[in-house]
Amino acid sequence: MKKSITALLVSMALPTSVFASDVDSPSTRIINGVEAGKNDWPFMVALIKKGQDAFNGQICGGSFIGDRYILTAAHCIDGKNAAEFDVSIGIHDLTNEASEGQRVALQTIYAHEQYDASTTVNDIAILELADAVNATSVTLATQAELNAINAGDLVTVMGWGNQEDDSYSQPIYPETLYEVDLEYVDRGVCQALGGNYSNVSDDAICAGFSYGGKDSCQGDSGGPLVYDDNGITKQIGVVSWGDGCAQADAYGVYANVGYFSNNGWIADKTSGVSYTQNDYLGYVSTGTHTVTLPIRNYSSEAFNVLTVTASNGSSITDNTCTSSLAQNESCEITVQYTASLAYESTEVSYTTDHSSVSSFSTTLYYQGLNAASSDLASLVGVGQEVLVSENPWVVNGSSVQAGSISHSESSVLHIAGLGEGSLSFDMQVSSEQNFDIAYVYVNGVATEQVSGQDSDYVSYTVDLGLETNSVTFVYQKDSSDSANDDTVYVKNFKTSSERSTGSSSGSGGSVSLFMLGLVGLFGTYRRKRLS
Ligand code: ARG
Repeated sequence: MKKSITALLVSMALPTSVFASDVDSPSTRIINGVEAGKNDWPFMVALIKKGQDAFNGQICGGSFIGDRYILTAAHCIDGKNAAEFDVSIGIHDLTNEASEGQRVALQTIYAHEQYDASTTVNDIAILELADAVNATSVTLATQAELNAINAGDLVTVMGWGNQEDDSYSQPIYPETLYEVDLEYVDRGVCQALGGNYSNVSDDAICAGFSYGGKDSCQGDSGGPLVYDDNGITKQIGVVSWGDGCAQADAYGVYANVGYFSNNGWIADKTSGVSYTQNDYLGYVSTGTHTVTLPIRNYSSEAFNVLTVTASNGSSITDNTCTSSLAQNESCEITVQYTASLAYESTEVSYTTDHSSVSSFSTTLYYQGLNAASSDLASLVGVGQEVLVSENPWVVNGSSVQAGSISHSESSVLHIAGLGEGSLSFDMQVSSEQNFDIAYVYVNGVATEQVSGQDSDYVSYTVDLGLETNSVTFVYQKDSSDSANDDTVYVKNFKTSSERSTGSSSGSGGSVSLFMLGLVGLFGTYRRKRLS
């Protein structure tokens, strides 16, 4: 029934392809900080998009807190699956992965259950690695230790984030880790800034200077804010947000580590009871599917899974968690869910007799689409499954074409089951400029956004960085007017097992397909390669 969790050796040297940097050389600033010493912060972690090198793929910071766990910010991983990331532990120069850092995959992600993207309250998450890692961890401060820090005391934040404080200028991303000393700020003074600062509660702390000048910035999120407690570095904060960067009367806000230590949230997530909290399944064919959810025990305490229930319309079709799970054992729950042509979720709830984690849950998120006609699917010719929306894409000679749609409607073509490498295709857009838009999403993240009249087909190549990838073409019309042919044509789909190293792809800030309209303060990921 149960399987033993086999410990794999964490690779010290990583398969790596380091691309030449096309970003300006670092200035002397994180915002007005200095380059960190190479081994000063050995617990520092870079959160990196899977399939990309550390420099181009780094999106957030984090800290190694021991065993198999990384502390970061919830907004760094909101709406994302563990399979989309790696971390590099102890790296300093992001362009030197061959000899620095331990790059490891994530097994699962725990975001704070009450993280609120609109207020940024509870902006904390734990990343669980597939294996325990041998690296220097950081000590987490308790709430009592935090309370002993006074306003004006110096604290230090570090990261590979933007070094340009003018949000109208091109960001400047360094290759090496930077740090800056800041003053700890009284919470009342921070709240008195008003606006979103009035939401700064016990779960957060502030640091910086009333006149600005020094701060963390975009890309530093998730990284540690530390202080020196008589020679011991202790982490008090996790980079969360700020109104701009290094502006006057706009402190940096950090998740309060002592608060989440004291209330047991960090302890629960690192107890060794391992499960999937959220599974973003994306587009699937309409009808019935199953998904298998592992439960693992890394704690020395054996426990039983007492009950497992699935919400409305879904059911548990298999359950190997029928006897006590000893340390390093795992079992699986199989859930059957039914997808319709709407965005829906299923919640699976578990209870256990573990002394600290007596209940937890998994939420599955998915949206059904119809299977494409066989003509359309064979013209696409790549991927394992081709799906379309209610206004389907159609065959037009040697091209596939967006369905004819009314105002405010969209026509979707979804190609699933694409292996690692790249996909190239030729696309011609003929639409109302800036309003009726062709989007291309790779694994749910927008990588192209085109409108207006292309005089001819344009060649695109998109990187497929995961083991299994999807590419989605969406023609989306706004609420009025049409222009040109009012459609999108695509032809010559070709996959390659090589990733493309440059050209094409990239339209700046990307938007998650399933989080359209939910993108809050952070605009999700910022790309470093601004092509
Ligand atoms: N939210 C930003 C990120 O995603 C971090 C912002 C920190 N801002 C500040 N002014 N301290 O990287």
